[in-house]
Amino acid sequence: MKHLLANILRKEIEVLNETEILKLIEYPKHAHQGDLSFPCFTLSKHLKKSPMIIAQEISERLNDEQIDKVEVVNGYLNIYFNKQTLGTNVIQEVLRDKESFGAQNIGQGKVITMDISSPNIAKPFSMGHLRSTVIGNAVANITEKLGFKPVRINHIGDWGTQFGKLIVAYKKWGNEADVKVNPIPELFKLYVKFHDEAEHDEALNEAGRTAFLKLEQGEAEHVRLWTWFREVSLQSFNEIYARLGVSFDSYNGEAFYNGKMDAVVERLAALNLLVEDQGAEIVKLDDMPPALIKKTNGSTLYITRDLATAIYRKETYNFSESYYFVGNEQSLHFKQLIAVLKMMGYEWAENMEHISFGMILKDGKKMSTRKGKVIFLDEVLDEAVNMAKQNIIAKSNEIENIDKVAEQIGIGAVIFNDLKYDRQNDIEFDLEDMLKAEGNTCLYLQYTNARIHAIIRKSGLETSHIEVNEIDEAAWDIAKDLMMFEEVIYNAYVKQSPAEIAKYLLQLARHFNSYYANVRILDDAAMKENRVGLLLAVSIVIEEGLSLLGIETPRVL
Ligand code: ARG
Repeated sequence: MKHLLANILRKEIEVLNETEILKLIEYPKHAHQGDLSFPCFTLSKHLKKSPMIIAQEISERLNDEQIDKVEVVNGYLNIYFNKQTLGTNVIQEVLRDKESFGAQNIGQGKVITMDISSPNIAKPFSMGHLRSTVIGNAVANITEKLGFKPVRINHIGDWGTQFGKLIVAYKKWGNEADVKVNPIPELFKLYVKFHDEAEHDEALNEAGRTAFLKLEQGEAEHVRLWTWFREVSLQSFNEIYARLGVSFDSYNGEAFYNGKMDAVVERLAALNLLVEDQGAEIVKLDDMPPALIKKTNGSTLYITRDLATAIYRKETYNFSESYYFVGNEQSLHFKQLIAVLKMMGYEWAENMEHISFGMILKDGKKMSTRKGKVIFLDEVLDEAVNMAKQNIIAKSNEIENIDKVAEQIGIGAVIFNDLKYDRQNDIEFDLEDMLKAEGNTCLYLQYTNARIHAIIRKSGLETSHIEVNEIDEAAWDIAKDLMMFEEVIYNAYVKQSPAEIAKYLLQLARHFNSYYANVRILDDAAMKENRVGLLLAVSIVIEEGLSLLGIETPRVL
């Protein structure tokens, strides 16, 4: 709609180009102020005339069949479009383009590497990793829709002294069968036991460090155990990813960069950036604490691996942008990382971005520990799905594939709850709230979509041949929403905020439901096909919007 108006106004305004005009166009706050407004204040500066006079002059010249009425109010042009023309056009466009409706090519195939999820092996998948996974995947989908090529990389935390400790613990107390049955909880138990014992047993700590050293040197038995821990951990993580509908292009984690760090350290040294500090090697930074590159015992650190990672990604993928979906608590780490890369002369570090987010809270407290007890994400997901199933059964018990539907609803609720708020906020994890059928929930959208499909089925119309020639007056809000989809996707990319899409879908569903409360879709034979066309268009956008968020939606519910 904005593009359309910009295109029309361009012919009347010589001093601004179409992009400049587009930027000035506003959505009015109230319906009685038209569908769009164009403020004439900027023009007034260019033309040295009052905004009122300019608005008046343009309004007299405007003559386009797509515009019904123009009002001049306080230096604004308030534009009222021809609802029939624009409404039927957009619905036809959605029906024609289907799931590619809203697609754009601003990315032109440019690569964006995305560091998503990145849990630590042999440890439970935390709520923070859930947020990274869900937000990262949605942003990746959104950029893909805009013609970028996202590369989803799972930077697995699979290296460090803790794996030496785990090897020692496993050899002392572990057994193969238990780990095979229940990998993460078993390995985690061993890890916790190690820490408890090591508190009053320095020899144990020493054994852990030695074991890691052996692992680093490639000692066969140590490598075998580490490889196995990594494998079983990845298998469990993959079960979670399958349920969340997420997949990755690469699982190169921290261990992958083992052989690639010497070059980084050498380059830092050659550039005279490395400084010795109490036996350790650091890079001093302006306005922030120094980056610790090598410990006193010579071993490398998290940031050293991230330096190697960033360089490897640039060389391998030649990204135009590089995103890291990691919680707020690591913001200093990423500031340091980018600063060191810039000091090394890598200008592309400018295009790296830490996309951070708040915590998941349960009753106001961080959810990773509940009374000291660890929460396993698969159990949380099971709980969500079970609750969804009970809700469905309470409403009707005739649904086929109830388990599949319950999975779509339960998982959808968890993902949507994460995405509907601006990501910087901490969010409350309240399953009951997330699974409400009314309100700002995923289920509300899923019910709306299922209702639409029930009506379409009842209409008996063949959905592939629907023609829309007229819309109801009451459908105008919906038509305007449909016209906004493209802009909403673009904004979600610019702000890296899937919440833009979530909020938009809720608005669309609310507009649809108030339309549905007022219009009897199938009663009027002459309007039936037009109305079903509208419904189908709404459904296409809801399904595609949810799919961008990584959520599936059943058509029968
Ligand atoms: N494994 C890390 C953690 O759980 C997150 C890694 C984020 N990615 C990165 N390239 N540093 O805290």
